[in-house]
Amino acid sequence: MKRYLLWNSLESSILINETKEVIHTHKGKIHLDRNLEYGECIYSTKNKKYYILKPTNEDINLRLSRKTNTFLVKDLSMILGFSSLDKNSVVLEIGTGSGAGTIFLANFVKKVLSIDINFWNILNAKENIEKYGNIDDVVLILSNHYVDFVKEKMFDGVVIDLPEPEIYSDFCARVVKDGGDLIFAVPNIEQVKKAREVFSKKNFVYFRTIEVWVRKWLVRPDYCRPYHEMQAHSMFFTFCKKIK
Ligand SMILES: C[S@@+](CC[C@H](N)C(=O)[O-])C[C@H]1O[C@@H](n2cnc3c(N)ncnc32)[C@H](O)[C@@H]1O
Repeated sequence: MKRYLLWNSLESSILINETKEVIHTHKGKIHLDRNLEYGECIYSTKNKKYYILKPTNEDINLRLSRKTNTFLVKDLSMILGFSSLDKNSVVLEIGTGSGAGTIFLANFVKKVLSIDINFWNILNAKENIEKYGNIDDVVLILSNHYVDFVKEKMFDGVVIDLPEPEIYSDFCARVVKDGGDLIFAVPNIEQVKKAREVFSKKNFVYFRTIEVWVRKWLVRPDYCRPYHEMQAHSMFFTFCKKIK
């Protein structure tokens, strides 16, 4: 499904899919009764100009319906940079949550299987993925009983977003391909230490723990400064590799 960002200014942007015909904004109605093309501009009934842009990963991430804490784009970008995951990778995500990680990863890898023990979170994630992602590239699975049926060395990477990722250490040692990636996200450094210790005893090496801060800047012709708000600590991300 094609999605469009109607961008007027940083304070006014609207994300839509192809199905809408008219949208109502405080800057007037916008009629979308024809094929839109990226890059063109259209006007509202109050004569406000909107550019039709392809939404970024961040535009989508910020609009998800959140029933859980979610990954932010600043963190998700690092998953790709610090791992070997690519367009041929099959990835297991443990802890679907609201589907923020699922939607992002599915844009870059071959297939994402995502499991969660909570039915309502899976349902919300499914709605988010249908609205904002590529549902064909994703398999959502309820229940951790799934873990009993997974084949050995099936995944190029596993991404875990749970408070105690180490509860899946035996499972990950079995299902991650040799040389594959394990990535886990936890908010506190004590959790990082504990999980690293457990995974290091299960054939995982090459540990790297990172934290990402993003500071956006306001850039005007006569003055430039960082915005007052910044995305600072959300999670520690730990990356490691499975060996034989
Ligand atoms: C913080 S949320 C994940 C958020 C997700 N990364 C996102 O970006 O939307 C953690 C999720 O893990 C699920 N969960 C908790 N324990 C689990 C377990 N043992 N196995 C699978 N999922 C679990 C919870 O139901 C919750 O949906």
